[in-house]
Amino acid sequence: MSLEDEVVASFAEAKNARFREVTTSLVRHLHAFVADVRLTELEWAGAIDFLTRTGQKSDERRQEFILLSDVLGVSMAVIDVNHPTAGNATESTVLGPFFVHGAPEFALGEDISAGAPGTPCFVEGSVTNTDGEPIPGAVLDIWQSDEDGRYDVQYTDLDGPRGRGRLRADAEGEYSFWTVRPQAYPIPDDGPVGELLAAGGRGPMRPAHVHFMVVAPGHRTLVTHVFSSDGAHLDDDAVFGVKRSLIIDFVRHEPGRAPDGRELAVPFHTARFDVVLALDGNGNGDGVGSAGWDPE
Ligand code: BEZ
Ligand code: FE
Repeated sequence: MSLEDEVVASFAEAKNARFREVTTSLVRHLHAFVADVRLTELEWAGAIDFLTRTGQKSDERRQEFILLSDVLGVSMAVIDVNHPTAGNATESTVLGPFFVHGAPEFALGEDISAGAPGTPCFVEGSVTNTDGEPIPGAVLDIWQSDEDGRYDVQYTDLDGPRGRGRLRADAEGEYSFWTVRPQAYPIPDDGPVGELLAAGGRGPMRPAHVHFMVVAPGHRTLVTHVFSSDGAHLDDDAVFGVKRSLIIDFVRHEPGRAPDGRELAVPFHTARFDVVLALDGNGNGDGVGSAGWDPE
């Protein structure tokens, strides 16, 4: 029996069939990888050192392993396996490390920026099912960076959340909010993942985007972003999160009246993002557990 077969066989008595399936495949791929590249002992020691430092860099504010998964495209691969495109439903992309449970609630049309620096931006849209029927009361969690490309949680001197909030779609399934125009930003690159990017001649930048998590009973929870069509890095997103269908126009306007009637003395942007939710797997679930996210 080969070494590889021996290792696989060592898991044969595992009670959980899925565990057996995953460990078997993992062992086979790892052994094939070692043979394929003829891995040296020095390289393996270097890899173990890299993974050790990845763990050491992680704490409750920083998750370097998720970042590693993101820059290797594994996060997107897992999303693609678990959230295949469902007809005209809005596509999913990475959650990222800056989602925070318990974002402040806002009424429709309010400003979620809470003083974050940036150009005012009005975002509106609808939440419907794949038949175009509105989903009243759908819960939208929204979070984004400011004009300096930083999230509120990356500041140490803020009093509270900024550039994040929770809204509920109205009786027609419509939502709207004010915010600031998002900007491209670098993912945290002062750790082992940054070393990996540098060694690969890769940059840390993500294109400008606004994150959405949309939850409604009976529907699949959607975790996604919208990307600004006029921004840089749409073609070299450090975490491979861009999908063409998620790129929208953030239209610039001169000072004047905004779509909600507000008068602005400064230039502003507007964007429309219509969200389409797929039915939950069995069509009658509660929509919350489908992606593992609980909006409380
Ligand atoms: C984000 O978009 O917030 C993000 C996603 C993956 C890695 C780092 C940041
Ligand atoms: Fe982001």
